[in-house]
Amino acid sequence: MIRRPSSFVTLVVAIFLLSYLYYFSNQFGVSPYLPSPVTDADIRKSPPPPLGAQPDSNPKDRYITVTTTVSSVTTKTASSGSNPEPNIGSVAPLPADYSPSDDDDLDQDARWCETRYGPTYLQTIAKNARPFCKPESQSQFDCLHSNMYGENRKDSLCIVRNVVFEDLRFNIDCQMRDPHEPDLMGYPHPHNFQGYWYDTGPRTIMTQFTVIGSDAAESFEKHACSNPATPRDDGYKVLIKREGGTNYWHSLMEILAFYFTIDALQMSIDKKTGKPYMSPADTSKIQVIVLDKHDNKNYFELWNYFSPKPVLTFAEYVKDSSTKPCLSNVIIPLPGASNPLWQGDWDPRICDHSIIVSTIRRRILKHLKIPTARDLHAPINVTFIDRKGSRKLTNSKELSDALIAAYPDVKVNVVDMAKLTLREQISLAANTDVLVGVHGAGHTHAFFLPAQSSLVEILPADLGHRGFRNLAGLRGIRYFSDHAPMASSDRPETSRDWHAEDVTFDKDAFMKLMEAAIQSVAHRGFLDSDVS
Ligand SMILES: *[C@@H]1O[C@H](CO)[C@@H](O)[C@H](O)[C@H]1NC(C)=O
Repeated sequence: MIRRPSSFVTLVVAIFLLSYLYYFSNQFGVSPYLPSPVTDADIRKSPPPPLGAQPDSNPKDRYITVTTTVSSVTTKTASSGSNPEPNIGSVAPLPADYSPSDDDDLDQDARWCETRYGPTYLQTIAKNARPFCKPESQSQFDCLHSNMYGENRKDSLCIVRNVVFEDLRFNIDCQMRDPHEPDLMGYPHPHNFQGYWYDTGPRTIMTQFTVIGSDAAESFEKHACSNPATPRDDGYKVLIKREGGTNYWHSLMEILAFYFTIDALQMSIDKKTGKPYMSPADTSKIQVIVLDKHDNKNYFELWNYFSPKPVLTFAEYVKDSSTKPCLSNVIIPLPGASNPLWQGDWDPRICDHSIIVSTIRRRILKHLKIPTARDLHAPINVTFIDRKGSRKLTNSKELSDALIAAYPDVKVNVVDMAKLTLREQISLAANTDVLVGVHGAGHTHAFFLPAQSSLVEILPADLGHRGFRNLAGLRGIRYFSDHAPMASSDRPETSRDWHAEDVTFDKDAFMKLMEAAIQSVAHRGFLDSDVS
């Protein structure tokens, strides 16, 4: 199929060239390019020209003759398309068990993993769309809901159509449906959404930044937003309230929740239109508006994944001269705390893969243009995260020196991640075989470690957090950990909290931990190191 058009083009070009040379040789008697000039006999080998063509008048007519020939060749080529070559390149589908269906022997654990980390997570959200306004309302307020296996909780994301921005509020003219209507039973009501920590999520956004109900009608009148002739912003404004924007793990969780929101909106059918709430093309019209007052623009490049439209702070949005009162679409995304990757991170999980995690990983690496090709002959790279703020390893120099001395063939990179840009950090992670450090946001890089790598976590005394271990499981990479006691301090024991305390790790314990991790990558790619 693919070869045919190009061979046709070659033919056209060849015949055109021949006709030009023919014309040239007739003009000057010789062809500068061909050993023997093209003769009339050569041309006559082509199918005869149709009636009316004058082969032997002037060169211009000859040109026309050849063109006619080309069109008859075209017909011939096209008709040969109805006799396809016998089955080259076409195959019947894979045997069915290569793509197991949802229900194929998934045990309870596998199903649990699938509803959190598989496409089912997004499909469930997409299936659970509920309209909250009566049809006579000027706005449409629909929410989609996540629901994970074995849990009652439902997290909401909402899309609002026809909104008026006035007086620092998004006005939603919605006459609420009775929450006791059967299809709304068991779903959080817009006046009573779930609350989340750090004052995030739809509930906070609704109370602080919207007016919903018949009070909103006035603003529609004032700006004539019901009149189709009034200019409106037909983009998609995404209202987010961050937990802080500084912690890498927290930030990534909320950015991922935003990605899940947009993914689900492209999958869920809006009953009003019969089409998905958003098309892939609509995603380029997304503009993120940051409603919180945290004074940083960290990670904005990841908020820009879907569209290059600048991420605006609320103050910038209010001041922006292109801000219009009549808005076609406003999205209130899932908050970071609803992220299935975050839920239940104190329990060990047995989930060992995740399409969601591998997709997100690929997306971010591609978006930041980080190459993932590795030199699999190259020596082992160990990245030792040396935290300089809270939760320092007091004897990190002793430990890294011992590691460098014990493994001369291993490249040990001691880094303070806080000094690197996000892109630098992620590219470093993408080239790391063993990532080690005291429990902290740096372990979020387990997302970006390459295949066959290992994650090592030094947990502060007694800390039983399993989030990074579970993430390593979902990536299919190996995980090793040990506990280190808090460093000595003058403060009373009762007032000490692992979040803030430094730790000191025994050198022998560290070397044992690292030996396990380094041995685990000794056969990465083409490496062939003997264990003994
Ligand atoms: C180890 O890191 C260096 C950069 O510091 C990189 O050039 C090399 O390719 C890395 N090795 C692997 C196997 O990723």
